[in-house]
Amino acid sequence: MNDPATCFSLSTASASEAAGHSPSPQPGSKMFSALAPITDAVTLFLDGQPITASAGDTVAVCLLRAGVSYNRLMPVSGAPRLPYCMIGHCFECLVEIDGIGNRQACLTPVRDGMKVRRQAGAPPALEPSAP
Ligand code: FES
Repeated sequence: MNDPATCFSLSTASASEAAGHSPSPQPGSKMFSALAPITDAVTLFLDGQPITASAGDTVAVCLLRAGVSYNRLMPVSGAPRLPYCMIGHCFECLVEIDGIGNRQACLTPVRDGMKVRRQAGAPPALEPSAP
């Protein structure tokens, strides 16, 4: 699996914006830029739209590389969220993967044909299993 730290860098503009505490990047601008080309390409589908990714990358890396604006909406405020820690601690990267909600995109390796959906709020609770 690729190390996310070696796959991305903050763009100069975004890094200076962050250091200067200026507002979020403009809509349509990419916060991250890929440092390496896609290799061993696979295709996942985000809300039905194809995204080309490198085999072995995590879903979070693929979403950031593709420049998506959010992967989930907060259950209470509806605020958009993106992956943050990339190591499984913050839970900002939750998405639905192949029909199962609350999956950590930063810990899930991408697979060819994987179906990923952004989460809007909390997913429904799982039904209890029969005794
Ligand atoms: S980005 Fe923090 S848990 Fe996935």
